[in-house]
Amino acid sequence: MNISATNASDVSNSRRVKDKVAVITGAGSGIGRAAALLLAQHGAKVCLLDLNNNRSESVEQQVKQFGGESLFVDTDVSDPERVQQAIQSIINRFGRVDIVFANAGINGTLSPIEDLTAEAWDHTLTTNLKGTFLTVKYTIPHMKQNGGSIIITSSINGSRKFSGVGMSAYSTSKAGQIAFAKMAALELARYKIRVNVICPGAIQTNINENTQSTPQLEKIKIPVNYPEGSQPLEHGPGQPEQVADLVLFLASPESSHISGTEIFIDGVESLL
Ligand code: NAI
Repeated sequence: MNISATNASDVSNSRRVKDKVAVITGAGSGIGRAAALLLAQHGAKVCLLDLNNNRSESVEQQVKQFGGESLFVDTDVSDPERVQQAIQSIINRFGRVDIVFANAGINGTLSPIEDLTAEAWDHTLTTNLKGTFLTVKYTIPHMKQNGGSIIITSSINGSRKFSGVGMSAYSTSKAGQIAFAKMAALELARYKIRVNVICPGAIQTNINENTQSTPQLEKIKIPVNYPEGSQPLEHGPGQPEQVADLVLFLASPESSHISGTEIFIDGVESLL
């Protein structure tokens, strides 16, 4: 969907997230940005949590342009105090949380396991997995009364795909998110809070800025080469806007009986 070309009033009633308060982590770029814009376009009040102020400001500007409401909070999702404070400032402004998109993440350091430093391992796990836990933990108290939807961005790596050599920390964090989401779905069902996980394949974003390949990677590379490309459906990476459509569906009551499941969005890349 072309976000800028569509008038907010045309679509705001088409799906039911109107006036819902949505918390989106990693909202300044890529998948988080596209989801924030789409949710706002459909009438949600979007709370943008990210480290990157400049990019998030531009998301805020766009939300404003189509008459939406947003709040940016400079947050490191791996820091419990900052996440707690961010959620509190959202409550101070909007008084509730209905939708949580725990999406912030990094590829981190790609390295053979024997060369991967404990610090690099921790950085990836802390950002991706602990960050997800903290985002969910601090929003639950504000969702218990009215219910809501939590969506977590995992990956095909760590679930269906294990050929991303050097991505042991990343894949472990992404596998952990799926287990965490299932535990949370069962635990939170009593509050009518649904929890689902999305597993994208390659999506065109800025994630490579958060990827450090070590020279030692060469020694563990496994040559996997599909002569006709590795994305059979569209012959190229997906776009963040395509993932945003899935997030909107999972955020809305149209998915009211779906909880505790992972959904792959990869153009069948992970089945090759
Ligand atoms: P991106 O790099 O374009 O966006 C990620 C955003 O998260 C950035 O704005 C960054 O500043 C923010 N972020 C990073 N660390 C943070 C922290 N500690 N606290 C707060 N914000 C932080 O990347 P993309 O692709 O949009 O990534 C979003 C999610 O999608 C990640 O969890 C990633 O693992 C996942 N994913 C991405 C795929 C891809 O091919 N792009 C494939 C599968 C999963």
